[in-house]
Amino acid sequence: MKILITGGAGFIGSHLVRRMVDNYPEYQIYNLDKLTYAGNLENIKDVENKPNYHFIKGDIADLEFIRSSFSQYGFEGVIHLAAESHVDRSILDPLAFVTTNMVGTAVLLQVAKENWKDDFDGKLFYHVSTDEVYGSLGDEGFFVEETPYDPRSPYSSSKAGSDHLVRAWGHTYGLPVKISNCSNNYGAYQFPEKLIPLFINNIVNRKPLPVYGRGVNVRDWLWVEDHAAAIDLIFHKGTIGETYNIGGHNEWKNIDLIKLLCQQMDKKLQRPEGSSEQLITYVKDRAGHDMRYAIDAGKIKKELGWSPSVTFEQGLSKTIDWYLENRQWLDNVTSGVYQAYYKEQYIKRQNP
Ligand code: NAD
Ligand code: TYD
Repeated sequence: MKILITGGAGFIGSHLVRRMVDNYPEYQIYNLDKLTYAGNLENIKDVENKPNYHFIKGDIADLEFIRSSFSQYGFEGVIHLAAESHVDRSILDPLAFVTTNMVGTAVLLQVAKENWKDDFDGKLFYHVSTDEVYGSLGDEGFFVEETPYDPRSPYSSSKAGSDHLVRAWGHTYGLPVKISNCSNNYGAYQFPEKLIPLFINNIVNRKPLPVYGRGVNVRDWLWVEDHAAAIDLIFHKGTIGETYNIGGHNEWKNIDLIKLLCQQMDKKLQRPEGSSEQLITYVKDRAGHDMRYAIDAGKIKKELGWSPSVTFEQGLSKTIDWYLENRQWLDNVTSGVYQAYYKEQYIKRQNP
């Protein structure tokens, strides 16, 4: 089977590409990625010479390029992860999110349909999405697959739009589609704009830890390799036309997570207890900041037997170890344009 994975040079995509290349030598895996600031071929260096791995550089929103890639390689399955993925960037530059997340998804769906329409048998378009499409929860309750969509940031609304497009191509044209909506991921190779790697990097460099608002927002954290395992399972065993929620049953208030991270970092860096916590700095809140996300992952557990393999404490510890052992990776991705983003995003926030 020839499988196109989009966004395979990014955080989650790189874990999925590695898993698929290693576990399925009989598949040909094509990683198509534009290599934006978030895409980095270093993330998948260990598989680049494997005979069943191929890299294609390009933009999913470029219709003619996607058409020619399909004709050239004859993909039979698509696992679509390429996206603009960071909420804060979506507040600064929303139109880039509409172009990649919505136009890019529509282009892929349309070209898959053009290529597969005479025989949908054995074909699959699997779309990887987020729990943020469901909006924000109060103190109680969980997102289930039937929760009505209520996205509230340019990021989450562009992802919600992409989910609707996928369902429309499934419903209208009979394209075989699957969707999963996952909670917040953490782990190796995550770009240090997201909470956990950003704070690890700042602790290493003794820089302030910018906590938005009062730090009381809640996220449900899942180790990235458990997400990749869930995608693999859904791709192979999930039912066509279905949606699966993926989550860790692992809710943390930001400030509690940050304190745990600080404690683990002090130990690992052999710094005096409490020294990382002194870096905590409360800054102006994110505009439209969603209060709480929490996934009910009962369906994927019951139907496909998936559940997370590590506790949060274990996953976080492994994650910190990886960043400490790969400081060169962190230094490389935080040089150059990262500095300009950091200034724009954080310097203005320092004095709320
Ligand atoms: P990421 O930002 O780390 O990686 C995105 C990748 O997509 C990068 O390699 C980038 O170069 C590529 N890309 C961006 N625009 C492109 C374009 N126009 N054409 C081709 N490639 C392009 O993102 P991530 O955190 O790995 O997320 C991957 C997917 O999973 C996204 O669809 C995201 O919405 C979803 N998701 C992420 C999380 C999370 O916590 N990170 C949780 C749930 C769902
Ligand atoms: P993030 O990793 O950006 O994921 P998302 O917004 O998609 O959930 O942020 C996780 C939480 O951490 C979110 O409530 C915002 C908060 N946060 C901070 O307090 N400071 C920061 O510098 C960042 C990046 C996030």
